[in-house]
Amino acid sequence: MPRESITLTNNKTGERYEFELKQGTLGPPAFDISALHRETGILTYDPGFFSTAGCDSSITYIDGEQGILLYRGYPIEQLAAKASFLEVAYLLLYGELPSERELTEFEQIITYHTMLNEKIKAFFTGFHYNAHPMAMLVGVVGSLSAFYHESIDIHDPRNREISAHRLIAKLPTIAAAAYKYGRGEPIMYPRNDLRYAANFLHMLFATPSEAYEPTLIAEKAINLLLILHADHEQNTSTSTVRLAGSSGANPFACIAAGIASLWGPYHGGAGEEALSMLEEIGHPRHLKRYIEKAKDKNDPFRLRGFGHPVYKNHDPRAGILREVCHQVLEEQASHPLFELALQLEAIALQDAYFIERRLYPNVDFYSGLIYQALGIPRNMFLVLFAVARTVGWVAHWMEMIADPAHRIGRPRQLYCGVAPREYVPISQRR
Ligand code: ACO
Repeated sequence: MPRESITLTNNKTGERYEFELKQGTLGPPAFDISALHRETGILTYDPGFFSTAGCDSSITYIDGEQGILLYRGYPIEQLAAKASFLEVAYLLLYGELPSERELTEFEQIITYHTMLNEKIKAFFTGFHYNAHPMAMLVGVVGSLSAFYHESIDIHDPRNREISAHRLIAKLPTIAAAAYKYGRGEPIMYPRNDLRYAANFLHMLFATPSEAYEPTLIAEKAINLLLILHADHEQNTSTSTVRLAGSSGANPFACIAAGIASLWGPYHGGAGEEALSMLEEIGHPRHLKRYIEKAKDKNDPFRLRGFGHPVYKNHDPRAGILREVCHQVLEEQASHPLFELALQLEAIALQDAYFIERRLYPNVDFYSGLIYQALGIPRNMFLVLFAVARTVGWVAHWMEMIADPAHRIGRPRQLYCGVAPREYVPISQRR
């Protein structure tokens, strides 16, 4: 088959450059410009990398126009309906759904890595009493490399796998410990008789004097939220993990970098913001006014939880969560915020402004409501996101390191600063 290529002409010099057009399994083709600077001295310019494929990847596929999300080829709707979080974690890490035996073994390995070294508990007491749990998560996850010197040789595939297992197993324990420390409650040990989601709920809500038995719907909701947030291809935090890892940094440091990136309000904070917005709206009679505010270009207010940088028709995860949100809230006597959310959604979806701009509820429109209904405080929403996304981060890190073609990430720049000039002695400066 002839090689497909694209030719660009420099109008000024008449020079022509040919680029190979690479095609993946799905999605748009990409010009291969990897040799561009070496061969022509020219750079591409793409702030935010919205038109740049930084790597080959076989993990997750998103079609933002069609509202499609696939993990290793499997539609998110099917995984959400049928799989457990650890089954999905296995799929993301190893590329195939596990057999029964493989899943049992994997569950066993993860379960028996959930405990923390006792010395790690001392780290928590070093934090200020009102430290944000994400601050504790970044610090403690980064510090794990100090405990596992013997298994952080990134060139050894078995070492990489052990680190991946440790991260997936220990993140809920660290997350729950951060929560408990903030409340002044004893840090709970994991329970090996519980599944991943139920154990996480136990570590969050049990105390040494009182057991906590999660309801089936609470376990189901956490399992689902973990699956839906597990990966989202080359998003900001995953790209951060890849870039950090490209230098050969150890996996714990790389995942800590991912957590720090996720913490930014433009990445992981939408669940919290959507809930705050619903509380601010307060009552259905205020909806019209807030919709008008969202449409007003002179008003900074935007409908939180609406719109997505990638999904332009619908976020496939939002519909799944909407249904579960209903189920979780049915267990409660009254759920005015959910009613408000449904009314807001209905009004916005019929409004020309939102239709023209293709603005639909995203996954986080409902996630905050579910977390709140489960008794999870607002400053923990992002922490739960980080627990889920750890699987995606680790899968991408493993994929990158195992790729013999991978090299250190080193973006370039278009320098727009001052041209060369002479040093001015301080006595002559104005
Ligand atoms: N409410 C009201 N108007 C909106 C909203 C919104 N939530 N989102 C976008 N618009 C409008 C913009 O003002 C713009 O209008 P214009 O064309 O008249 O200027 C138009 O829709 C396109 O908006 P962009 O910002 O260009 O859309 P983009 O796809 O770049 O932005 C984003 C997506 C940032 C998510 C945006 O929709 C937003 O701010 N949403 C609310 C916050 C939110 O929920 N963020 C979390 C998304 S999940 C994630 O990012 C991981």
